[in-house]
Amino acid sequence: MNHDFPKLKNDLFLRALKGEDVERPPVWMMRQAGRYLPQYMVLRKKYTFFERVETPELACEITIQPIDELEPDAAIIFSDILTVPQALGIDVDLVKGKGPVMGNPIRTVDDAFAILAEDVPEKLSHVMDAITLTRKELNGRVPLIGFAGAPWTLFCYMVQGEGSKNFDKAKGFLFQHPDAARHVMKELTKATIDYLKAQVEAGAQVVQLFDSWSGLLSPEDFNEWAMPYLMEITKAIKDVPVILFAKGSWYALERLSYKSGATALGLDWTISPEFAREKTRNDIVLQGNFDPTRLLSPIPEIERQTKRMIDRFGTRNYIANLGHGILPHIPVDHARAFVDTVKGYEKQK
Ligand code: CP3
Repeated sequence: MNHDFPKLKNDLFLRALKGEDVERPPVWMMRQAGRYLPQYMVLRKKYTFFERVETPELACEITIQPIDELEPDAAIIFSDILTVPQALGIDVDLVKGKGPVMGNPIRTVDDAFAILAEDVPEKLSHVMDAITLTRKELNGRVPLIGFAGAPWTLFCYMVQGEGSKNFDKAKGFLFQHPDAARHVMKELTKATIDYLKAQVEAGAQVVQLFDSWSGLLSPEDFNEWAMPYLMEITKAIKDVPVILFAKGSWYALERLSYKSGATALGLDWTISPEFAREKTRNDIVLQGNFDPTRLLSPIPEIERQTKRMIDRFGTRNYIANLGHGILPHIPVDHARAFVDTVKGYEKQK
């Protein structure tokens, strides 16, 4: 499908992803569309979470809310990583105060082998419709990011059946039934490739893979249960840059930088810029890593720490972002201070 989208006016994010020598780093925030914005809360009162995700007009409106409010350099489509488990037959509900809950989690070897990645883009066509609509409505203001959860993180939810501190049921299943787990991981990889390719075709200009729970794996288990699938996905997505966010997996930075095939690596806030640059031999784009809770600091302190973060990462091969999603109780002015500080950053000569 060939779309005739409006011409891009702000391409800073795409230039930075190419490693070009940019005037300042681009900035966006993970979970920038969400509960810290009063305009999001209005729609949240009217519609359920999945109504918001599954109605392209609502997803489009929510995606653009932070662009209107804060003017970051990229938009990320409003959706969720749990759309893929849904397309694989797992019932997902979002329970107030608890987070995602699955009605029929994988608990047996038979459950695992019943997971098949069939017609995933067709089942999630509302996401593609939302992407195409949002590209038009953005009118070229900023590029649009598509995304998916990484197989390991999706496996965590599909087996555990809910959020968890240690995802013990998911890890237990992995260690007790490795063949069945491998089957699920392979189907998730196929589903994710099909899904991301469809997002790109629909208009996503960059994609990000969220491996939010990869830090629960030991380095050896990461190499066996996360890395091969991440590599397969990044290698299959050829037409747009891929950002890989493997939260908590500082130990894998070196391998990820030369082996994963990603264009950029996302970093959480527990990693120092110097450590990350050294481990990645200074030759891959890095994204992050402001502690989201630090946005509760007084505004002058947010400004000081944001500048210091850019001083340390440098302006080249760098995308300013948080180290994880923005929290619901962050004042909008504090989020704005973060974005504005990056936008006002003056490059040191
Ligand atoms: O970044 C964006 O603005 C785009 C939208 C986006 C959402 N979820 C919307 C959302 C993205 C990129 C995600 C990814 C996601 N979803 C991840 C990976 C990133 C991460 O945070 O580690 C994960 C693990 C999920 C699963 C998920 N969805 C959880 C654990 C929850 C409940 C916890 C929470 O933050 O409320 C959700 C619900 C969810 N997804 C909300 C939003 C805005 C909150 C829904 C609401 O109450 O309005």
